[in-house]
Amino acid sequence: MKFFLDSAKVDEIEYALEAFDIDGITTNPRHVQDSGKPFMTVIKEIARMVEGTNKTVSVEVNPHFTAFEDMLNEAEKLAALSPNFVIKLQCVEPSFKTIAELAKKGIRVNCTLVFSAMQALQAMRSGAYYVSPFIGWKEANGEEIQSFIEDIVMIRDNYNFQTQIIVAAVRNARQIVDAAMIGADIVTAGLAVYQDGFQHPYTHDGIQKFAKFWDQTPYE
Ligand code: E4P
Repeated sequence: MKFFLDSAKVDEIEYALEAFDIDGITTNPRHVQDSGKPFMTVIKEIARMVEGTNKTVSVEVNPHFTAFEDMLNEAEKLAALSPNFVIKLQCVEPSFKTIAELAKKGIRVNCTLVFSAMQALQAMRSGAYYVSPFIGWKEANGEEIQSFIEDIVMIRDNYNFQTQIIVAAVRNARQIVDAAMIGADIVTAGLAVYQDGFQHPYTHDGIQKFAKFWDQTPYE
C-alpha cells in the first residue's frame, strides 16, 4: 500500500520523504493556505522536491471553476508545470467530461471530494487516474466507512478499472489499517497521523525494560 502525505508544508514533505520515503503528496486549498505561501509558489516548490521521481503531487483546480472549459484550461496550465502533477477536480458532473478529455491528452486527474460509491464509479468510468473517497468527513458525521471503501474497491475490481483508490481525509491509524485490509491502493494522511500510528506505548515500555537489562549486563 502506498502512503501519501496530505500537506503543502515543505518542511513536512521534506521530513516525510526522508524519514519514511512517502510515495506521493496530496494538497488541497486548505493545505495551501496553511503553508502561508501563494498557491503557485508552493506547488512549484513541491514539484522541485519530487523532480525526477515517479511520486505524484495532487494539485487542486480553483474550486470556483465548475464549467468544463474553465476546469480544462486550468488543468492543462497546472499539468504543464510538472510531470509529477496530478490534477485534482471536484466530483461534480462537469468534471466527468473534463476528466475524459484530460485523459485523452495524457493528463492525470485525481477526482476529489468523493462521498458515494456512485460518484466513484462515474469518476472511474470517465478515466480518473485517482479517486479520493473522503472517509474522515463521513465518519465525523456518524457514517460507516468500511463498506464505503469496500464498495469502491469491489466496483473497481469488478470492471478492472485502472483507477487507483486514495482513501483520503484519514484521521487515525485504525482508518489506515481498515483501508489496507480492504485493499485500497493508497492512503493520504497528515504527518501527525502517521507518526502517531507508528508508535505504541508497549513499544516504549519494552524499550525501557530492555534498556535496564542491557545496562546490567557486561557487553563482553
Ligand atoms: C485529500 O486529497 C484531501 O486533501 C484531504 O484528505 C482532505 O481532508 P482534510 O479534511 O484533512 O483537509
